[in-house]
Amino acid sequence: MSVAELANVSIYRFDPTQNKEPRFDKYKVPYKGNTVLGVLDYIYQNLDSGISYREGCTHAWCGVCNFVVNGKVVLGCRKSAEKTMVIEPHPKFKLIKDLVVDFDTKVKKRKELPKKPSRFVLKDELCDGCGDCVLICPTGATGLRKKGSKVLALHTDAPACCGVTCKLCADNCHTMAITILD
Ligand code: SF4
Ligand code: SF4
Ligand code: FES
Repeated sequence: MSVAELANVSIYRFDPTQNKEPRFDKYKVPYKGNTVLGVLDYIYQNLDSGISYREGCTHAWCGVCNFVVNGKVVLGCRKSAEKTMVIEPHPKFKLIKDLVVDFDTKVKKRKELPKKPSRFVLKDELCDGCGDCVLICPTGATGLRKKGSKVLALHTDAPACCGVTCKLCADNCHTMAITILD
C-alpha cells in the first residue's frame, strides 16, 4: 500500500487515573471510503488496542460516537475520514478516558459556555416531530413540545448548545427544518 493512501491521524490520549498530561498519539491508517469510526476500528484492531472510544448503532442514530475531528463535533459513524485528522473527545462532557466521555455529566460551568447562546431556528412547517434531533443532540439542548395538534422541536437549553461547531441536529434533520446560528 502506498503512503499516499494512508491518513495521518492524531488521537487524544488521556487516562485521568494514570496520566498527568494528555498527549496525542499518531497513526498512519488507510482511510479512503471509510468513516472516522471505521478508522478508529482499524487502529484498535490493527495498531493499538489500548485506545478507548464509544461505538453503538453505526447508523447515525444513537449519538454515542460524538467526537471532535479537526475542531468540529461530528458523528464518527457518519463523517467520512479525511487525509489528516486530529480526533479529540467532545469538550462538553467529563472525560473518562481518551475519546470516551460521560454523557450524564453535561459541563455546566458558566465560564465554559459561550457568552451568547446559540440560536436554534426551526421552520415549524417542515418539522414532523420525529425526534431525531433530540436523540442526536450530544448536550441534551433540544426537546419536543406540543403546538396545537403538532409536535415540534425546540431548543430547551440554549447555553449548553455547541452552536455551529456542532449542528448535528440540523445535519441530521431529514426535512432540513433546523438552522443553527451563533
Ligand atoms: S429532526 Fe427535524 S423533523 Fe425531526 S423533530 Fe427535529 S426538527 Fe423536526
Ligand atoms: S447544534 Fe444541535 S445537536 Fe448540536 S448541541 Fe446544539 S442543539 Fe444539540
Ligand atoms: S455509533 Fe450510533 S450514531 Fe454513531
